[in-house]
Amino acid sequence: MLSSQEIQSLFPVFRNNPGLCYLDTPASSLTPESVITKLREYYEHYPVNVSRGLYTLSEKATQEVEYVREKTAQFLGGSSKDEIIFTRNTTESLNLLARTLLPTLKENDEIVITGMEHHANFVPWQQLAKQYNLKLKIVPFEKDGHIEEETLRTFLSPQTKIFSFVHISNVLGTLNDAKRFIDIARSIQPSLITIIDGAQSAGNFPLGVRDLDCDFFTCSGHKMFGPKGIGILWGKKKHLDTLSPFLYGGEMVSSVSEKESIFKESPARFEAGTPSIGDIIGFGSALDFIESFGKQSIFDHEKTLTSLLWERLSETFGDAITLFGPNPKTHIHTGILSFALEGVHPHDISQILAQENICVRAGTHCAMPLHKNLDTPFHATVRVGFSLYNSPDDIDRLIGGLQKARSLFTFSP
Ligand SMILES: Cc1ncc(COP(=O)(O)O)c(C=O)c1O
Repeated sequence: MLSSQEIQSLFPVFRNNPGLCYLDTPASSLTPESVITKLREYYEHYPVNVSRGLYTLSEKATQEVEYVREKTAQFLGGSSKDEIIFTRNTTESLNLLARTLLPTLKENDEIVITGMEHHANFVPWQQLAKQYNLKLKIVPFEKDGHIEEETLRTFLSPQTKIFSFVHISNVLGTLNDAKRFIDIARSIQPSLITIIDGAQSAGNFPLGVRDLDCDFFTCSGHKMFGPKGIGILWGKKKHLDTLSPFLYGGEMVSSVSEKESIFKESPARFEAGTPSIGDIIGFGSALDFIESFGKQSIFDHEKTLTSLLWERLSETFGDAITLFGPNPKTHIHTGILSFALEGVHPHDISQILAQENICVRAGTHCAMPLHKNLDTPFHATVRVGFSLYNSPDDIDRLIGGLQKARSLFTFSP
């Protein structure tokens, strides 16, 4: 593994912002030079539309996009490039599913999610349930951030048609045992549809969608060192070819007459209009970048930093700090750690840290229902997220910044 300085030198943002301590990767990862170069290559050499031009530049752009589709399928452990739909982000992938699965549901059917969902995997189902008289059931998590299998069992039933859950929580850092969850769900209702929100796991956890045997998997390129504006929906081909389209328009139809339209098979069926071509092509380089380190080693690096941070925060702040999620001494805790410091609002903490060039996230991290169930007076937390470019030096700086915040906000006579 390269040193953290060598890794940082692969990201222009560190050159342009000396002293940057970036701990907000769960929101968006930073972009390596190789991805920016690939984006530039597209815009400088063949910045044209795909799938429709019969000239060399358009054929080149189409070839590049299809190459990335194939690469994405392999990266996620899928079997065919036709199972990869390019969307804008995880949010759009999940909304696409909520809308296209709707015709398969009837009144009183149940949708099960967990209490640790990001709003992207919460609000679409909540709204669907409200508008169409479906039942939304929310599996609660335990105090230490894990979901009990027995609890999960009691929330699933033969009426459950969709079970959609987060793989790695963007607040608690919990890694849900996706394979086990799916096995449990199918033992109760064999034909239910399982969906994994992989926004926080796709780029840094060694997973395979075929091994997990989920029906759908969603993620975002910008959390995987890729450009903003590109998301992925992976789905089993048997579902993709039977679901009705999400958006209608050009390129998703094989024929159109005044009376009717015939839709193409997936993936074209779900990719109406001009896709985010440069972003897709740049995303291919992001996958190369991840593979050059290996998902397992990225995951291990992040976990090691989390364990260290957990230890350092406990030592430094004792009872004045509440750390959320599994204790890394006894359970897997991924590269995301949220906490609350007694007497200081998370927004104040993040502002003070910002003065030190330290970037963290403060608030509810698009997970308000989750925060309602946390034992914290502000119903908000500070979140730290690690990636390849972080090192124990970042932890030292963070602790220093937190000590400053605490001394500014704690009254001592
Ligand atoms: C677990 C999880 N799901 C979904 C999303 C939504 O991702 P996006 O904003 O890229 O759609 C996020 C973003 O932070 C997330 O952490």
